[in-house]
Amino acid sequence: MDTNPCKIPELTLTSGGLKMPVLGFGTASDPPVQPETAKRAVLEAIGLGYRHFDTAALYFTEEPLGEAIAEALGLGLIGSREELFITSKLWCSDAHDKLVLSALQRTLKNLKLEYLDLYLIHWPVGSKAGIYEYPIKKEDFVPMDYKSVWAAMEECQRLGLTKAIGVSNFSCQKLSQVLSTATIPPSVNQVEVNPVWQQKKLIEFCKGNGILVISYAALGAFGTFYGTNRVMESEVLKEIAKARGKTVPQVCLRWAYEQGIGVLVKSFNKERMKQNLGIFNWELTKEEREKIGEIPQSRACLGHDYTSVHGPFKTIEELWDGEL
Ligand SMILES: NC(=O)c1ccc[n+]([C@@H]2O[C@H](COP(=O)([O-])OP(=O)(O)OC[C@H]3O[C@@H](n4cnc5c(N)ncnc54)[C@H](OP(=O)(O)O)[C@@H]3O)[C@@H](O)[C@H]2O)c1
Repeated sequence: MDTNPCKIPELTLTSGGLKMPVLGFGTASDPPVQPETAKRAVLEAIGLGYRHFDTAALYFTEEPLGEAIAEALGLGLIGSREELFITSKLWCSDAHDKLVLSALQRTLKNLKLEYLDLYLIHWPVGSKAGIYEYPIKKEDFVPMDYKSVWAAMEECQRLGLTKAIGVSNFSCQKLSQVLSTATIPPSVNQVEVNPVWQQKKLIEFCKGNGILVISYAALGAFGTFYGTNRVMESEVLKEIAKARGKTVPQVCLRWAYEQGIGVLVKSFNKERMKQNLGIFNWELTKEEREKIGEIPQSRACLGHDYTSVHGPFKTIEELWDGEL
């Protein structure tokens, strides 16, 4: 264990005052890694002070994360499960009202946990029940009935199987649809946010509705099939990093933190895990923030895999309701 683990600041979710460490550790790996590698990375991360972990049924990291948590408890790296904030996500083929509860129960079994802190609808689209596949075949997409699926998510929270519920990859318009029937509003919308896709409109909309945005692809998810190098190769970010004696990832993560949103970052490399924690004892200047504000905007994670001529969203314009 690190002798002096980092204490990560917390944000409060609207749901019951639940506290969430602002910086979370991503566990989606592209290409996928052996479960043992993911488990070791999580254990190292806990030793360094990470307490918020993001997984999904899709990632195949629920089991290694659960094993790492059990081992961390055994080793005394953490005193109790309550010290952690654990998020997982409902996959498209389970986004049917009758399947939500059993999907969450399966996730909890994989994690060997009694409850999640946050359960998210992974994408705003369904796929045929019982066919677990990625990428989803174009003919297998089906519309999701937001009203009944969200009601099933609410039931999961009422049953105490998750402390909070939310969505991921939802546009303002799709969020409005969920909000129009929700009795428990979504606590979170997890979406791509980084200096080249700043999501100002969506963040404003979410703040106005008490929804916390959590950023994924904070470094542009470079090196993955869905990511971009435009963040890491931005001359503006490189210049700021050089002038401040920081790295481009630290500038990106600090910038996201200063937006008042949650931020995820994935590194399975111990030195880079440590580096990514070095964002809390300095701040960007007004001029630096302005320069970042002028970076030309474009979405990296376009979500083509979730569009289909047979499905509810035939184009990426329809998937994001023109927020491109
Ligand atoms: N809801 C969704 O649809 C969705 C979509 C995408 C991601 N996510 C979640 O968000 C998490 C983070 O997003 P992401 O993994 O896509 O992208 P990311 O965090 O922007 O980038 C991850 C990449 O950056 C590298 N990296 C991390 N820190 C670094 C540093 N300091 N210096 C140099 N390289 C560094 C990692 O490699 P190394 O491991 O080798 O360091 C990895 O290749 C995911 O793991 C997942 O949990 C959610």
